[in-house]
Amino acid sequence: MASLLSKKINTVLVTGASSGIGLQLAKDYLALGWHVIACGRDATKLDLLAQTELIGATCLSFDVTDRLQVQQTASELGDMLSSSECLLDVVILNAGSCEYIDDAKHFDDQLFERVIHTNLIAMGYCLGAFLPLMPKSAQLALMSSSAIYLPFPRAEAYGASKAGVKYLAASLSLDLAQDNIGVSVICPGFVATPLTAKNDFAMPMQIDVHEASLAIRVGIERGDAEIHFPKRFTYLLKLMSFLPAFVWQKMIQRDSQAQALKGTKR
Ligand SMILES: NC(=O)c1ccc[n+]([C@@H]2O[C@H](COP(=O)([O-])OP(=O)(O)OC[C@H]3O[C@@H](n4cnc5c(N)ncnc54)[C@H](OP(=O)(O)O)[C@@H]3O)[C@@H](O)[C@H]2O)c1
Repeated sequence: MASLLSKKINTVLVTGASSGIGLQLAKDYLALGWHVIACGRDATKLDLLAQTELIGATCLSFDVTDRLQVQQTASELGDMLSSSECLLDVVILNAGSCEYIDDAKHFDDQLFERVIHTNLIAMGYCLGAFLPLMPKSAQLALMSSSAIYLPFPRAEAYGASKAGVKYLAASLSLDLAQDNIGVSVICPGFVATPLTAKNDFAMPMQIDVHEASLAIRVGIERGDAEIHFPKRFTYLLKLMSFLPAFVWQKMIQRDSQAQALKGTKR
């Protein structure tokens, strides 16, 4: 692994690089000549990617929800980086999952715990492990979602986890300023990936992973505090959030009722 890392070339670490947005980011950074440290939890899947779409990347497999695995990986990575005098210029904590609460009255607290653990608590494990490997002037990017701008039905767990990430990033940006480490929060609208392929509802203004990767890379390069896209969708949500609650509640409820009706007719 160490031989893949050398001085003067930018290095990016991406979690959740085995699929969707993370995979596209890893591919695009590789194409730009960066050293890519592609992280995923499935070693077999990563091995295959290392021989196909991620040739030249350093692949690390660990489960972000397992604090010990995260710490162990970071410690190995730290040794590797110091022996090759390489630094983590960009860290993108992208790994995440989405599950919906189907019956709020019989609230699934295990689902809630699972989603918060993967999307928020695990981010804390990654920060604890990888931040010490980031030098001054590095950029950290945390994956949130445009779901934080307005509440969506059934998204109690997902939305809460992503709202937590937004606050985490904002607070970190204050505290890491003294270390000259920039912090971005990423808030995508709907992006076509295996995660959204499971959704059984309409996803307006959905974009592909190429557009998502470009927006994220440009935002990171500029050091944007908030990277949100597609703008036509995220500005609409932001605008709606300024309306009185009863107005956007009615709009969202009417939309989900219409979709439910369409579903029963199918
Ligand atoms: N797609 C969208 O519309 C959208 C919108 C807003 C925000 N996001 C966020 O963007 C991120 C990427 O989503 P995506 O759409 O690209 O989904 P995806 O294709 O399902 O990719 C998710 C990635 O996270 C990894 N992952 C999940 N749980 C993990 C764990 N416990 N340990 C290590 N890796 C884990 C997955 O690994 P495996 O390959 O092993 O499953 C996969 O590489 C997520 O945080 C998601 O919430 C997505």
